[in-house]
Amino acid sequence: MSGRYIAFEGVDGAGKSTVAEAVAEQLRADGRQVVTVREPGATAVGEAIREILLHSHDDLVPWAEALLFAAARAQLAEQTLRPLLEAGAWVLSDRSVYSSLAYQGGARGLGVDIVRTVNAAGLSGVWPDLVILLDVEPQTGLAREEDTDRIGAEGLALQQRVAATYRELSASDPRVVSVDGAGDVASVVAASLQQIGERFDESV
Ligand code: TYD
Repeated sequence: MSGRYIAFEGVDGAGKSTVAEAVAEQLRADGRQVVTVREPGATAVGEAIREILLHSHDDLVPWAEALLFAAARAQLAEQTLRPLLEAGAWVLSDRSVYSSLAYQGGARGLGVDIVRTVNAAGLSGVWPDLVILLDVEPQTGLAREEDTDRIGAEGLALQQRVAATYRELSASDPRVVSVDGAGDVASVVAASLQQIGERFDESV
């Protein structure tokens, strides 16, 4: 696959979608073919699963939640990401498998390794090349949120476990780089572009 798959990650309200869109604009201005996607969602199947996961069914058990995220992701990988990456596109994703590692694996306590294994089975090699972790305090993120979904509504303790797992991942997984997400959008975008340039050894 000749494209690039870059995921933006962080606690709820970290600013991923704003930063991902702004980074995409900059990369497009430099002449690259860039597509943005979000998880869960981006395919018809994925958007239907998103509705179950985030806006209904308060009684979802942790493994049902984890497997639904993985199912939406498998659909996205096969239907959308693989063809784009094979065609040489740059894909910028608002969340990825790393959200499942942090939220379901770490914060829900299912285990990062087993959640990674289950997801890898559905992804057949479609895996982010670079993960940009927007590091913000969970309190700051929750305060920024206008509409909280089912998982965001669970509150601070969950987000703190999510943040701790992201930090462990950024220390142990060379694909994950951390960017200070507390500043203004322009500086977070600039720091993200710098990481992308360094990782792919190009000027962006
Ligand atoms: P998102 O739409 O990115 O919301 P926000 O802008 O609030 O971060 O994500 C929706 C929620 O789903 C968010 O609480 C994180 C959660 N999530 C998981 O728990 N596991 C996953 O694998 C993914 C993709 C998201």
